[in-house]
Amino acid sequence: MNLTMKYDKCKDILEKYDQRHLLNFYDILSGEKKEFLLDQILGINFEEICNLYKNSYIEPEKNDIITPLPYIDKTKLSNKDFKYYNKVGIEAIKNHEFAVITLAGGQGSRLGHTGPKGTFELKLAHTKKSLFEILCDSLKVVNYLYNISIPWYIMTSENNNQATINFFEENNYFNYPDKNIRFFMQNKLPITDVKGKLMLSELYRINEASNGNGDVYNSFKENNMIEDLKKQGIKWIFICGIDNVLVNPVDTLFLGLTIAKSYEIASKSIFKENPNAKEAVFANRNGKPSILMLNEITEEMNNLQDSDNNYLYRETNALCHLYSINALEKCTTLNLPYHRAYKKNTFINEEGMKQIPESPNSFKFEKFIFDAFEHFDKMLLLRVEKNKEFAPIKDLEGMHEATKLYEKEKVKA
Ligand code: UTP
Repeated sequence: MNLTMKYDKCKDILEKYDQRHLLNFYDILSGEKKEFLLDQILGINFEEICNLYKNSYIEPEKNDIITPLPYIDKTKLSNKDFKYYNKVGIEAIKNHEFAVITLAGGQGSRLGHTGPKGTFELKLAHTKKSLFEILCDSLKVVNYLYNISIPWYIMTSENNNQATINFFEENNYFNYPDKNIRFFMQNKLPITDVKGKLMLSELYRINEASNGNGDVYNSFKENNMIEDLKKQGIKWIFICGIDNVLVNPVDTLFLGLTIAKSYEIASKSIFKENPNAKEAVFANRNGKPSILMLNEITEEMNNLQDSDNNYLYRETNALCHLYSINALEKCTTLNLPYHRAYKKNTFINEEGMKQIPESPNSFKFEKFIFDAFEHFDKMLLLRVEKNKEFAPIKDLEGMHEATKLYEKEKVKA
């Protein structure tokens, strides 16, 4: 198709979906950039994105039956149990049955760091360390303890894939065996403004971003990674985010407990101290493990306790999930819903100038990794201590707190 034909086709599409503004600066673009923009338009599923925008205003009616999801408190396990479950977990590690996936395809818009979030450096007392290196350090402990190098899969997105790979190369893969690190890219979707109009990030480029951490299942499969796991005989996969500096990706207790108690999926939770904190909580929904959104948590639920005074709806998500290979494979067959996130995104304004908004100005559509849990009958929930295992860096304020905790828990150790 030549340029004129492409242009005509794009004009029709944009007309149909009321997105003509995307060609506002077309006439002043170079030939190469014209082609880039037209190809991008032709590659976008406008029907899908316009429907996502429209439907995101409709609250689905829910008549779900909500009940508590029981949890095990890590601090309350007896020494004997601790030792036993640890042993089971260590066996699985030694048998080369364990792999880790890191979710690093996000935008990190709240942190405002240029470059992949994993390249953000923590300024420690005696050194600096990127989030990628911090995670890698924890994996290297296993090399040291058991002489085993755990397969490490890193999900990136189109916007940060090359920069992520370059960063690992420049840092010599932090001395981790590079044959055991694999990158795979998740899918993307256009961002819209609050009126449903797609946005330009450059005069010739539509702003498309990663479509949520729940795309890990699809993209893992699309990139043939499930086969890769199976070939290596991997039976258990831990998935975590990139920004929790206290994450313990190789928690043999967590692994052993899940195996010994015959669960297919497991997750770690953190107790919500402040009942009014804006944090989603675990629960059973119609008898299946799930996470309740803020608008589903009533004040009564916040304060509900069992006969031993344990709160029933206060377990929040630490983004530390464990799956058997069968469970992970099942997740790749699911069609997870999209949710709308309200985010800050730089855009090209009507005058063709790049504008950095001061507050959120756009909608990003995301799949959530935890939406897969409802497709399982049961899930092991392990409550862990916040100060020991959960310090995610979402913004600069969180960064200071996380740095302190990291110095205390990890540097000293
Ligand atoms: P967050 O929800 O905190 O999003 O992601 P974010 O993109 O890092 O930051 P904000 O919201 O723009 O400020 C939690 C984890 O999920 C990953 C992130 O990289 C992080 O590890 N994630 C998020 C993805 O891998 N892909 C996505 O599309 C979104």
